[in-house]
Amino acid sequence: MGTLVNKRILLGVTGGIAAYKSADLVRRLRDAGAEVRVVMTRAAAEFITPLTLQTLSGHPVHQHLLDARSEAAMDHIELARWADVVLVAPASANLIAKLAHGRADDLLSTVCLATAAPLALAPAMNRQMWDNAATQTNLATLKQHGAHVFGPAAGAQACGEVGRGRMLEPAELVALTTELFATGVLHGLNVVVTAGPTWEAIDPVRGISNRSSGKMGYAVAQAAAEAGARVTLISGPTALTPPERVQTLRVTSAQDMYDAVHAHINDADIFIGVAAVADYRPARVATDKIKKHADRMTLDLVKTPDILASVAALKDAPFTVGFAAETADLEAQARAKLSAKGVDLIAANRVGAGALGFESDTNTLLLIDASGVTALPELHKSQLARRLIQYIANLYNKTNKVGLQNLHVKTKNTAQDPRRAHRP
Ligand code: CTP
Repeated sequence: MGTLVNKRILLGVTGGIAAYKSADLVRRLRDAGAEVRVVMTRAAAEFITPLTLQTLSGHPVHQHLLDARSEAAMDHIELARWADVVLVAPASANLIAKLAHGRADDLLSTVCLATAAPLALAPAMNRQMWDNAATQTNLATLKQHGAHVFGPAAGAQACGEVGRGRMLEPAELVALTTELFATGVLHGLNVVVTAGPTWEAIDPVRGISNRSSGKMGYAVAQAAAEAGARVTLISGPTALTPPERVQTLRVTSAQDMYDAVHAHINDADIFIGVAAVADYRPARVATDKIKKHADRMTLDLVKTPDILASVAALKDAPFTVGFAAETADLEAQARAKLSAKGVDLIAANRVGAGALGFESDTNTLLLIDASGVTALPELHKSQLARRLIQYIANLYNKTNKVGLQNLHVKTKNTAQDPRRAHRP
């Protein structure tokens, strides 16, 4: 369970008797951690009520294109952008035909056409309709365009016939949807990620920290795990739940984070420093709570170790990625950090007045490496993290000039990996 945490599934429901299973599907997707929004066609509402799916999904069901009220809440383009995956279950022969021809004459077909998210179809129809050459040609076209087709299964049908055309069971659809997120681009690699703020104590109850929520670092750790990496997340104080399948270590200060990183960096293939590490800490920590006797007080601060630069400076350093949070001159500042810290890639974002960033659920990123600059658009942090991981994987492979297959073999046996030859 919990395999779809932070995933946003837009479930399309078309008209067919299998629509009754969509209720169970919504529940199971949510049990697996997904956020679900439902779009129903007019015909679907003849088989199952919008109220049922609204109650189970926890959100109003979207039914009409260009309906003033629902468009004001979340229009078709917003819905299309919101989705990490569009899953249509059941997908009727009619919807499949419309999508194969790029038609957009209702809300569901418009969202399917307007989305950049992967599209998965779970066909459900009478076996003759399934076997019909038109349906098969339409499906072949959609597959060629990148659509995923889940099922259908064979067996007894509601119409009394026996054959292919039954929608897959909800549990199977949840499992197949989960697989869509498992890209495997970092398969077999060890990745260390830092996240969140640090806390530099002044006295037992006070300290210096910053507004980092940890959301971006946690999303990066989760995306790396989904990409097949073994991930160690070293987190400063946050209110977040550790991601699934990630070894999470909680630390407090910059020095603690430095120590934890260096205790785990030896086997790392990739290091991603997302944490907003304090640059300075109080020179002395008062043993007792400081009393407000004086009218003024001065804090004597000393520099903390730069974790990112220290990792990049290691002999046979891992592929090293830093973040840069800047209030001005984003690209120039980030480029300066790329060379000053000697890292392979800097992911830069704007912070401060009017910017997204720390507490926001969305962000934008400018990726800067030796080969140039790539801008990632404003996306939910989990989507941005997946795009970043894909970018890192491509760059890592180019830099190491070996295929993933070779890497997998090498990292399984570090003694054979020339990049690790000096290590114990
Ligand atoms: N970083 C780090 N250790 C520190 C300070 C920063 O590992 N003591 C890492 C962050 O995790 C991030 C990158 O360095 O990946 C950039 O951090 P940032 O605070 O933007 O840069 P600084 O080097 O601190 O420079 P400045 O504050 O002067 O902009």
